[in-house]
Amino acid sequence: MEFDALIKERRSIRQYDPAKTVTADQISAIVTAAIEAPSWKNSQTARYHAVLSEEMRARFLQQCLPERNAKKAEHAALVVTSFVKGTAGFTQGQPDNECADGWGFYDLGLHNALFLLKAKELGLDTLVMGLRDAGAIRDLLKIPEEETIVSVIAVGYAAQPAVHPPRKSTEDILKFY
Ligand SMILES: Cc1cc2nc3c(=O)[nH]c(=O)nc-3n(C[C@H](O)[C@H](O)[C@H](O)COP(=O)(O)O)c2cc1C
Repeated sequence: MEFDALIKERRSIRQYDPAKTVTADQISAIVTAAIEAPSWKNSQTARYHAVLSEEMRARFLQQCLPERNAKKAEHAALVVTSFVKGTAGFTQGQPDNECADGWGFYDLGLHNALFLLKAKELGLDTLVMGLRDAGAIRDLLKIPEEETIVSVIAVGYAAQPAVHPPRKSTEDILKFY
């Protein structure tokens, strides 16, 4: 898909088709694309934990998401995104500047932008969820303490038409000097 069309067509989807299943190969292809993102000193601290099986998805929806997000993410694969803390933006354990682990969040966001766009290119839809229970996710998936758990991305096939929420104008957010 042409780039401008791709970024316009990617929209948050909050209802997924129960008749279609996302495969491990599809998630692998998406993460392979996300790996091309830039990162602080190429530290590549982004990590992905994909929940695909029906049994684990049911437990995840019940234990790790607030009810409203669990409803929206039904019938989708669930991908936890995290980063290895104390690495991006750090030299020998010391932060390089005031942003500290903010750079880990920054790098993960860059990875995740590619993740969302690659998913769309493959014909899949997504929902980023910041409202989630990080402690319950860590317990269920046994994610090590070295990783900061950030978002959960639902990946599936849309069962509703996409809406395009309004955006600010370019002039609102861009200044030239
Ligand atoms: C960091 C982040 C956290 C979000 N958390 C949630 C969430 O918990 N639940 C939800 O329904 N949408 C969530 N969203 C989706 C946003 O509401 C959505 O991206 C925004 O309204 C713009 O719509 P669009 O993605 O369709 O362009 C989140 C998006 C981002 C980037």
